[in-house]
Amino acid sequence: MNLRAWKLLDLLSDGAFHSGDDLAKRLGVSRATVFNDMTLAEKDGVHLQRIRGRGYRLPGGWQPLDKNEVESFMGNAAARFSIEVLQQAASSNTELLRRSGVQSGAVLAVELQTAGRGRLGRIWHSGLGNALTFSLSWRFDCGLNALSGLSLAAGVAVLRALKRYDVIGVGLKWPNDILTPHGKLGGVLIEAQGDMYGPSLAVIGIGINCSLPVMITKAIDQPAVALDGICARPPSRNRLLAALLEELAAVLDIFAGDGFATLRAEWERYHAQQNLPVRLLMPDGKAVSGVARGVSDNGELILETAQGIRQYNAGEVGAKP
Ligand code: BTN
Repeated sequence: MNLRAWKLLDLLSDGAFHSGDDLAKRLGVSRATVFNDMTLAEKDGVHLQRIRGRGYRLPGGWQPLDKNEVESFMGNAAARFSIEVLQQAASSNTELLRRSGVQSGAVLAVELQTAGRGRLGRIWHSGLGNALTFSLSWRFDCGLNALSGLSLAAGVAVLRALKRYDVIGVGLKWPNDILTPHGKLGGVLIEAQGDMYGPSLAVIGIGINCSLPVMITKAIDQPAVALDGICARPPSRNRLLAALLEELAAVLDIFAGDGFATLRAEWERYHAQQNLPVRLLMPDGKAVSGVARGVSDNGELILETAQGIRQYNAGEVGAKP
């Protein structure tokens, strides 16, 4: 999408109808140019409403992310991050991993991801202004082998941030889905680079659904919820990003010092399936059933199976059928 299309999307941020004529005048271009730019936006996944005689509308509008606003909500912790907002990228994780010499604390928040990625090669679906999608890079002295509990630690930070806004019924599903009884609210995707014995760099990607337009709900292959459906006063995306970064800084400090072990009991308190029967589908296609008994100091899932207590470091947990 070009810069002009983004200017048009800015003009549509109020969620009201704007005629093609009006939009064209405001940008000093022809109506045909507006039409073409809006078509480009749609091709990139922006869900526009076009009605003859009324013009264009972005249902629900959207509030752009603003680095200064995020920093103003953060207090002292702001100094630990360098925040960049990108209008568009395939994926904030991919973009951050592509950059060389990335510093610890670099945050890349993307308004529109065109190829958002989830765990296990899945697609992460989100539209313009519907979700908070960002990645944070963090350097650790420890090696890659000591980062095994990092994704669970990030989940703890997300839960702490959500709890500030009284989000109803939110919990964690191993390893790091942000879950409610009605569906998934968000997820964490961690990708790390470095040496087995250190140092290492982790890119922590987080996606949270803020609202769910029908088109996005249809694209997602599992039940999903958004903040506006489970929170009486949902925070703006700027405020949510500030809260998440503050909590991430606190949790990542603990993780860098003591590893996941110190965060384990808190993770288990948030665990949506603690002491419930589950079925773990492993990467080789085999499944194992048992009662979820929490996680180990390294973040492995502990299952009480018919053969005894077992620990797992990969797979997808589902409710026991
Ligand atoms: C999952 O639940 O499978 C993880 C989803 C992670 C999505 C976020 S959105 C920001 C960052 N960029 C990506 O492409 N993915 C993560």
